[in-house]
Amino acid sequence: MVKDKQLFVCQNCGFESVRWLGRCPGCGEWNTFQAELTARRKDTNLTPSGQAFLLDDINHQGEERSLTGCGELDRVLGGGIVAGSVVLIGGDPGIGKSTLLLQLAGTLSGRGPVLYVSGEESASQVKIRAARLRVAGRQLYFLAEVNLAYIEEAIRNLSPVLVVIDSIQTMYRSEIDVAAGSVTQVRECTALLTRLAKTVQTPVFIIGHVTKDGHLAGPRILEHMVDTVLYFEGDRHQSFRVLRAVKNRFGSTNEVGIFEMQDRGLVEVLNPSELFLAERPESVSGSCVVPSIEGTRPLLVEIQALVSPSSLGSPRRMATGIDYNRAAMIVAVLDKRAGMRLGACDVYINVVGGVKLDEPAVDLGVALALASSLYDLPVPPDLVAVGEIGLTGEIRAVGHIDQRVREAARLGFRRFLLPGGNAKAYQGTEMETIAVSTLRHALELAIRR
Ligand code: TYD
Ligand code: MG
Repeated sequence: MVKDKQLFVCQNCGFESVRWLGRCPGCGEWNTFQAELTARRKDTNLTPSGQAFLLDDINHQGEERSLTGCGELDRVLGGGIVAGSVVLIGGDPGIGKSTLLLQLAGTLSGRGPVLYVSGEESASQVKIRAARLRVAGRQLYFLAEVNLAYIEEAIRNLSPVLVVIDSIQTMYRSEIDVAAGSVTQVRECTALLTRLAKTVQTPVFIIGHVTKDGHLAGPRILEHMVDTVLYFEGDRHQSFRVLRAVKNRFGSTNEVGIFEMQDRGLVEVLNPSELFLAERPESVSGSCVVPSIEGTRPLLVEIQALVSPSSLGSPRRMATGIDYNRAAMIVAVLDKRAGMRLGACDVYINVVGGVKLDEPAVDLGVALALASSLYDLPVPPDLVAVGEIGLTGEIRAVGHIDQRVREAARLGFRRFLLPGGNAKAYQGTEMETIAVSTLRHALELAIRR
């Protein structure tokens, strides 16, 4: 540490300023600046000598990964836990972050010592939860501590196979003179844990709280410091939970794991398509099933739409589970290219089950659900649709057609509406494929008036 200096730090995005500011130039938020005594950054290098090595001379026998035994979690991590990696798990309070990691700690404690550090709950609280989850590991250690110096000591003494930090906002470093949970503390604690993970080669899982608008509390750079960022999402009133990778140095992002919260903890859902379609109403207008690809896995989900005449000057538009701008684009294309007058209607779109879809391949399904609701005519129950919609009303080709068809066939669908450009990609026989190249054509085929 060279010298301390007074700084004002935006508690939302981590922007630093020497003066107090009302509005943050970094993120545009008001009243987020707080005075913090920021220590000049200490060295964060991993090789103290500053000596460069030839890449060829570095000994390395492939990535060392250990499977967690939970298929959903392993896939989201990109094929198990990498030694020395740092994983940040964010999510709303009460969504199940502590539960997930306590279960993981229990599993891995069969292989070696595991250290679960909690700054939020007492030993007896964690013990009660562990009993309820039937987590009993001979080598599961618990530490109720918030001072990182002691935690570091415990990690060095124990050489655990896994460390869980519940939560980063409760931790502090005594040499930094600001409150726990402030941007500087969160950042410096994460930096120390990251360095420690790399030097002792122990994977560290860090729980982070999210702010009202769903971002990890603390600066964005937190996401840059760790190897993997996972979000645990879901509706607290429902039992599904979706674990999503938003950053992964060791695997693909957009990979999702699906869990169900039961009275004895989180259980992985092995057949999510079945679960998502379980409550689908038969032959009702305003619903269409799409075979979407989440990461590497096909997932059938139902998209629902409701179109009703609006009594407001500017009609309501709402989209849950898909991007709002994408939905607005589809509504505009339907209006302009397919003659559907939606301008004076309220439009609601919802993806069932709390999943978020972000691939354009689901466009056609959204359009069909909207048209079906407007004309009050159901989409045939054995039909699924996939395709990206272009601004001229053309249906553009999408990837992974084979996988999508197979998943739909497995769940009993018989007809598959797909882009003309994909017509040749599928050669199997389990499904009748119908190629469409314009939105108008697709609507004529799927919604018979
Ligand atoms: P928790 O893991 O404490 O959430 P977080 O750490 O993300 O804040 O999960 C708490 C919720 O999960 C709580 O509302 C109760 C519910 N729950 C169950 O339904 N079954 C269980 O076995 C456990 C342990 C919790
Ligand atoms: Mg918790």
